[in-house]
Amino acid sequence: MQNWVYWHSSLPLPSKYMYSILLFLLLLLRVNGTRVVSEPVSVKSGKNVTINCKLVDTSEVIQQISLQKYTSGKWENFFVISQDGAGKALNEFGKRFSFIGKEQRHASILLQKTSLLDDGEYKCIFTIFPSGTFEDVFRITVYVQPSVTVQSEDIPEDVTTEGVIAVCTAVNGKLKPDMSWIATFEHRVEMNFVVHSNGSSTVQSQLFAVPSRMLNQVEVFCVVEQPVLATKMNTTVNLSITYAPIVTVRIAESESDKMVILCEADANPAAEKFVWKKESDIIGFDNVTSEENRHLTLMLANEGNKQYFCKATNVRGTGVGTFYLKSAPVHRINTAGIIPLLIIILVMGICLWLLVKKRNWKLSQA
Ligand SMILES: *[C@@H]1O[C@H](CO)[C@@H](O)[C@H](O)[C@H]1NC(C)=O
Ligand SMILES: *[C@@H]1O[C@H](CO)[C@@H](O)[C@H](O)[C@H]1NC(C)=O
Ligand SMILES: *[C@@H]1O[C@H](CO)[C@@H](O)[C@H](O)[C@H]1NC(C)=O
Ligand SMILES: *[C@@H]1O[C@H](CO)[C@@H](O)[C@H](O)[C@H]1NC(C)=O
Ligand SMILES: *[C@@H]1O[C@H](CO)[C@@H](O)[C@H](O)[C@H]1NC(C)=O
Repeated sequence: MQNWVYWHSSLPLPSKYMYSILLFLLLLLRVNGTRVVSEPVSVKSGKNVTINCKLVDTSEVIQQISLQKYTSGKWENFFVISQDGAGKALNEFGKRFSFIGKEQRHASILLQKTSLLDDGEYKCIFTIFPSGTFEDVFRITVYVQPSVTVQSEDIPEDVTTEGVIAVCTAVNGKLKPDMSWIATFEHRVEMNFVVHSNGSSTVQSQLFAVPSRMLNQVEVFCVVEQPVLATKMNTTVNLSITYAPIVTVRIAESESDKMVILCEADANPAAEKFVWKKESDIIGFDNVTSEENRHLTLMLANEGNKQYFCKATNVRGTGVGTFYLKSAPVHRINTAGIIPLLIIILVMGICLWLLVKKRNWKLSQA
């Protein structure tokens, strides 16, 4: 345990005589020179902080140091350091403070695990003998890093009207943070905030743009800054613009006797239902549980010159893709074979006609 006498005796005094003169002068000058010097401190919530209070320009014996906090309109004592150097909490609040000061006339007090409740005005009061009390007011500022979230969920596509496409929220920050967006497309921002009774604030920023499907899955950044804490939080989200399926049907496999066609839907959320139709008949119905559900096998011997439709549905609507199957390729090969035959027949016909005509002419000449 540290004794105040130590502080006293460790003064660099050349002699008893000098000391007496010094004491006498200090007593005379006490009103002008003697004072308490404290300094404002800033701390991140949850961290420890050390408060420093110094008594300067006196060598009188320190009898007590007490700490007060300005609470609900008045100063309240919560911690006291007695002459023998022992710190003592006077209430629940004071229990997180401990006296660690060992230097001359310099009280260092550790405040552990700060919270927003510690933010405020404090007073260091030195009681010395015989002059009495000297005090100084200082501030403890507690900062809280907000928790940041960025959301972009299920924004319905709308190619004509600007709307909110993402929201960035910084909850319970102190001091109020700055917020900005990084986006590669044309946008506008609207901000609002609430200040809570404990001094923290929740800031929200809305990102506005025309929610076209081109923006779906485009990455945007919300940057939250607290200059005083030198923190910069960069939070990202991929935009989620929801839109009805755009359906295309393409040939997946083609063999001589059969063909597999595949229904593909560009949709957000993913299409959850696919229905195949042949002309007006529903020929298949499957909820998408696997890739296979979107495939349709056509046996060419039985089909041909038919229109197929694939209808895909999600929460935003329905899209239809079509596929026209011409007559089976077997027939097409035959059709192709007929054309040269027809040409040959035609050529032969013309030759025959010319031949007959020539003979008739000869006959008529005779
Ligand atoms: C705060 O101080 C206490 C006591 O000295 C120590 O045990 C603890 O680790 C410190 N915490 C931080 C965050 O520095
Ligand atoms: C401050 O107040 C808000 C709203 O009452 C609360 O949600 C938040 O947790 C408080 N923050 C701290 C650090 O106590
Ligand atoms: C945020 O992060 C992205 C990618 O990591 C980067 O391109 C961007 O410059 C960052 N912005 C800031 C302000 O740190
Ligand atoms: C956003 O999308 C890209 C691909 O386009 C992906 O690499 C990234 O992980 C996604 N980010 C988030 C936060 O989902
Ligand atoms: C597909 O889903 C719908 C509703 O989501 C349900 O009514 C229907 O029975 C399902 N069909 C099959 C074949 O699982």
